[in-house]
Amino acid sequence: MSDVKKGLAGVVADVTAVSKVDPETNTLLYRGYPVQELAATQPFESVAYLLWHGELPAAGQLDEQRAAERAQRALDPDVRTLLDMLPLDAHPMDDVRTAVSLLGARELAGTGSVLDASGSVEDNLRRSLTLFAALPAIVAYGQRRRRGLEPVPARDDLDYAANFLWMTFGEESDPVVVDAFNRSMILYAEHSFNASTFTARVVTSTLSDLYSAVVAAIGALKGPLHGGANEAVMRVFDEIGDASQVPAWLDTALAQKRKIMGFGHRVYKRGDSRVPTMKTALDSLVAHYDRPDVLELYSALESEFVARKGIYPNLDYPSGPAYNLIGFDTATFTPLFVAARVTGWTAHILEQAASNALIRPMSQYDGAAERHVDGYVPLADEL
Ligand code: SDX
Repeated sequence: MSDVKKGLAGVVADVTAVSKVDPETNTLLYRGYPVQELAATQPFESVAYLLWHGELPAAGQLDEQRAAERAQRALDPDVRTLLDMLPLDAHPMDDVRTAVSLLGARELAGTGSVLDASGSVEDNLRRSLTLFAALPAIVAYGQRRRRGLEPVPARDDLDYAANFLWMTFGEESDPVVVDAFNRSMILYAEHSFNASTFTARVVTSTLSDLYSAVVAAIGALKGPLHGGANEAVMRVFDEIGDASQVPAWLDTALAQKRKIMGFGHRVYKRGDSRVPTMKTALDSLVAHYDRPDVLELYSALESEFVARKGIYPNLDYPSGPAYNLIGFDTATFTPLFVAARVTGWTAHILEQAASNALIRPMSQYDGAAERHVDGYVPLADEL
């Protein structure tokens, strides 16, 4: 019986230069830079450049990328037509997945549509930037459409985070809100071989195309054990109500053997390195919107659950209430994660395509012993 590693837990599947997650030191480096430093000092556009190119951009490089990104922010008319065909109660991650699939089918038409035939590194870097630029309008329209509102045209005089908020809410956001949102997008951008990124690498390893890899990654991220957790955190807060209800709620939830969303992590076992930075952003939003009740509930649940189970919050725990305070619908939270993580996914797609080796693990058989059809007699149909 070989040593089966269920869920690939603890398995080092490949090497990567994109990011380093170190649970021993509780650190996360993007191309060598501590994520806390990037979140505190950089616009998300610069971090996207870093993930794709391996270096922070020089001024001219950032200007060039900004110009190309701002020129592609508008909601694509075909995408809008397609989204308007979807049921309003379709899951917003299905909306985003469908939109990316359309963009890919159109872009790759006539190219042979596999990574080795669908263009060079330059082509796939260009496509990565296109998705980075296009997703905010898709996510923003998704929320507005569900509220019966028309899309808000993109602005090219706002940076990425400010424009994303503008297209979602139709008004300019306070700098405190823009900064908190920018930090969240940087923190969500990349995290080594998480389930959705590894999914993208598996698809890339067959020499499929970049869009198919991103669509597959969106499917993986949708699950509540992964990206869907930030939405689930908000639902937990709504269930509990206020801080005084935490002990009783937790008694019931743990008795039902529920996973408490926003807590725990496959790699970090003594706390997620990103939480302190996102918690600082949450604190700034709580002060800005004067909502101390949010922090009371947040702190009560965290201290009670950590005391009882010794399991710590992950990034989804502070980001859920932060996005709620900003005004995003709960159903929009995981699509926000897509808009951020598309930078990490595409950086890994490019890396996997360059180093290419088909990802195909082994399995351990535990089914029926060998047997043969000549012994098979069809049972009489049920009377
Ligand atoms: C993300 O991988 C990444 O990097 C992901 C991510 C990224 O940036 O890409 O960081 C983003 O996905 C963060 C995680 C978001 N998911 C959640 O918040 C969902 C709730 N968390 C759990 O489902 C769980 O913690 C996982 C799935 C995140 C990790 O689980 P593991 O490492 O597989 O550990 P496990 O499920 O085997 O748990 C070990 C024990 C179990 O108890 P026993 O069965 O041994 O008695 O701890 C318990 C678990 O039941 N446990 C929890 C729990 N997390 C672990 N119990 C209750 N609530 C939890 N949240």
